[in-house]
Amino acid sequence: MAGRFLVSLWATVSVSISVSATPIVKRNPYTFVLNNPYGDAIFELGEVSYLANTKHPKAVLKATCEPSTSTAAIPVTVVKTNVSSITKATLESAIASYLDNDDVFSTDFLDGLYISSTVKASLDASAIEYLASYNTSMVFLAGVSGKGKFSTISIKASAELSAGPYLATVGSNSVSLASVYRLYEDTYRTFLFGAYDTNDGLDNHSPLGVFLPKSWHNMIPVPSRIYYWGDDRPLAGERVAIKDLYDVKGLQTSGGSQAWARITPIANGTAPSVQQILDLGGVVVGKQKLAQFASGANPWEWQDEHYPFNPRGDGWLTCSASSSGGGCSIAAYDWLDYAIGSDTGSSMRRPAAVSGTYGQRPSQGMISLERVLPLGGATDTAGVFSRDPYKWIKFAKAWYSASLHQNVSVTGLSPLVVPDTDAFPKTILYPIDYLPLNNSAAEPILQEFIGNLARIFNMTVKEFNFTATIQNFTDPVASNLTTLIAATTVINTWSAWDVIGRRLVSTWASLFEGRFPPIDPARRPGWRAFNESRTNLAAYVEAQAMKNVGVEWYEKELQYSTPESCSESVMLYDIGTGGLPSFREQGLNDSPDASYLAVLPKTAKITGANICPIFGCADFTIPIGQVPYFSNVTFHEEMVPVTINMVVKRGCDFVLYNMIEKLADEGVLKTVKTGRTAF
Ligand SMILES: *[C@@H]1O[C@H](CO)[C@@H](O)[C@H](O)[C@H]1NC(C)=O
Ligand SMILES: *[C@@H]1O[C@H](CO)[C@@H](O)[C@H](O)[C@H]1NC(C)=O
Ligand SMILES: *[C@@H]1O[C@H](CO)[C@@H](O)[C@H](O)[C@H]1NC(C)=O
Ligand SMILES: *[C@@H]1O[C@H](CO)[C@@H](O)[C@H](O)[C@H]1NC(C)=O
Ligand SMILES: *[C@@H]1O[C@H](CO)[C@@H](O)[C@H](O)[C@H]1NC(C)=O
Ligand SMILES: *[C@@H]1O[C@H](CO)[C@@H](O)[C@H](O)[C@H]1NC(C)=O
Ligand SMILES: *[C@@H]1O[C@H](CO)[C@@H](O)[C@H](O)[C@H]1NC(C)=O
Ligand SMILES: *[C@@H]1O[C@H](CO)[C@@H](O)[C@H](O)[C@H]1NC(C)=O
Ligand SMILES: *[C@@H]1O[C@H](CO)[C@@H](O)[C@H](O)[C@H]1NC(C)=O
Ligand SMILES: *[C@@H]1O[C@H](CO)[C@@H](O)[C@H](O)[C@H]1NC(C)=O
Ligand SMILES: *[C@@H]1O[C@H](CO)[C@@H](O)[C@H](O)[C@H]1NC(C)=O
Repeated sequence: MAGRFLVSLWATVSVSISVSATPIVKRNPYTFVLNNPYGDAIFELGEVSYLANTKHPKAVLKATCEPSTSTAAIPVTVVKTNVSSITKATLESAIASYLDNDDVFSTDFLDGLYISSTVKASLDASAIEYLASYNTSMVFLAGVSGKGKFSTISIKASAELSAGPYLATVGSNSVSLASVYRLYEDTYRTFLFGAYDTNDGLDNHSPLGVFLPKSWHNMIPVPSRIYYWGDDRPLAGERVAIKDLYDVKGLQTSGGSQAWARITPIANGTAPSVQQILDLGGVVVGKQKLAQFASGANPWEWQDEHYPFNPRGDGWLTCSASSSGGGCSIAAYDWLDYAIGSDTGSSMRRPAAVSGTYGQRPSQGMISLERVLPLGGATDTAGVFSRDPYKWIKFAKAWYSASLHQNVSVTGLSPLVVPDTDAFPKTILYPIDYLPLNNSAAEPILQEFIGNLARIFNMTVKEFNFTATIQNFTDPVASNLTTLIAATTVINTWSAWDVIGRRLVSTWASLFEGRFPPIDPARRPGWRAFNESRTNLAAYVEAQAMKNVGVEWYEKELQYSTPESCSESVMLYDIGTGGLPSFREQGLNDSPDASYLAVLPKTAKITGANICPIFGCADFTIPIGQVPYFSNVTFHEEMVPVTINMVVKRGCDFVLYNMIEKLADEGVLKTVKTGRTAF
């Protein structure tokens, strides 16, 4: 553990140092390491590893080279200007802004300089002296003249090339420039593998495909942020990790199962929900770990994958399930912007709670789950983890486009309508069967949050008993939580069996003389004994109809629209542990100062997590603070995040985002940090 913290601390410090006025340090030389299986180059500059997309370079340019020019690969920096006299100041200010705003670029890329200008330009004496101070050995001139102690290469036809670091390869009449990616160590083991855009013109991604012997961990390739300056798409250059349930063309989808990966081909298309991220300018950096087939398995029940680590507290806390890799990676890495997960029963909301990050279960039907391995077709949803409320909202509003709403035949519900207004709720519902928070030290944090909410939005707090309210109703379906839970169970069992289980079990048996596939215990007994006479399409359709009855009741009686409010109320509850630590190691959770996850509150009939999967509502996990505990792992005081869940009527997601944005404006909600503590 100590090793991991040291490594990640070092990484954080090295990227956040601002070097604008630093003296020139000796450049680290280019060191080729190996080619990966896809023909791309792994190289090092000092201690830092990189990938260069040399198989499919970003640009190949016609050029005239000096006869003596070496043809080896060389790290170069592309600088674009529009001045006619390029001086030391021109170069120095460009390099300073690169260093300040990007973690991939370093002055080690000044072995070569590629300079272009929109006007006829030349390098003046100060610029040439500046390059000499870096021992720049090669200068690529695109519409620029200049002569110094370096080889010059005249670019004949300049291309639409973004500024930033590249790996150049010089041929006799051409220069190719490959995009570079810095390789970060996945020290918390949240990823299955890193991946990058193949740039083959066929929309493929490639796995990184190498294991560097100097590290235990997967390496994750992230491209320079400078490439995206001037790209005004909402997610331009944002680094996004994907739960390994979603298809990305060129990558294997495993669902967290090696057996499933063994019998299924590499994805030949990309899920529309992931394509939407790419179209918005986002960058897919890898596939992440999950509880196998999106089950709710506890950390100690994982067999096929090694359970990821949570950076919070003592480093021994749970990441929950099933989007475990996603939540913990966002709490861990400054170099990662977003992680995509899914939520059927709690799988976005609980990982967000235990990692102290923002994460949501959107309204049922919000975004297409085509080409995503299902758990329950009519209960699955897709969400995104983020540290920053503004960035989280920006992503969500761009990603959840109306064009990607699910068909009513998928949800079994009325069409989804998602107004983006300030028609805020008037009532804060405080369910006495779910609150107060279990740790009495955490409840004052919640009370302060409620006070702020009531003040800022002029809302009234209403205590009520959720269970009694539902049971008081007379509808045989809507007021019977046992019936609604049973319907949800049918939905969640059938889709996964129909798409994954049946095929895996029968294919494995035919390949291996009748053997059952090696899968985690979360699914083994259910799939071993699956009875299609009991659970089948007809039962699924009936369950969907029951769910619809429940949703219609909920939207009429419990959380409803009024002329002033999209959702008259926002309901609060906690999907986490109420401010107690919950550990990856089972036995540690038996202590009275710790907690298991998914504990049914004493007087409730269903867990809070189950409310929105049943009633279709939107449920967001929001970090609001932290409380101390004494760790039996580090034997030191540590902090555990405190979060709260905010629930609104189906379709009122964007109104809730607008509310959260206002809370951030007021300083009530904050960006959480990476590492041991969220605040
Ligand atoms: C340039 O080369 C000289 C001589 O090898 C060396 O002392 C100096 O540190 C180098 N400068 C950089 C920035 O690498
Ligand atoms: C020249 O570049 C500067 C800085 O990039 C920019 O602000 C300015 O608009 C550019 N001018 C022209 C004429 O392109
Ligand atoms: C993609 O793969 C599926 C099977 O996984 C296959 O049915 C389909 O024809 C393939 N599509 C293309 C365009 O190759
Ligand atoms: C919804 O699904 C039905 C049945 O599969 C199909 O006929 C219809 O075209 C779909 N509608 C949309 C908007 O995709
Ligand atoms: C606050 O809400 C109450 C009703 O709950 C209303 O009477 C009052 O005018 C509102 N105040 C403001 C400032 O909107
Ligand atoms: C809520 O109502 C249920 C059903 O009437 C009851 O069993 C339970 O004790 C109540 N919970 C609280 C905290 O009052
Ligand atoms: C139950 O219903 C009755 C009659 O409509 C109503 O008076 C009572 O307040 C309700 N109780 C709860 C807990 O909703
Ligand atoms: C709820 O439905 C189940 C059958 O699904 C039934 O056994 C039970 O009695 C019902 N409960 C109530 C309170 O009506
Ligand atoms: C499967 O379910 C049907 C219907 O409930 C039942 O009659 C049958 O005995 C079950 N089969 C097994 C093997 O349990
Ligand atoms: C740590 O261990 C002590 C002694 O067994 C126990 O009393 C305490 O509750 C434990 N603390 C936590 C946070 O689990
Ligand atoms: C609260 O914590 C105690 C002690 O760990 C535990 O027994 C109880 O189930 C917890 N309650 C909830 C609702 O999490």
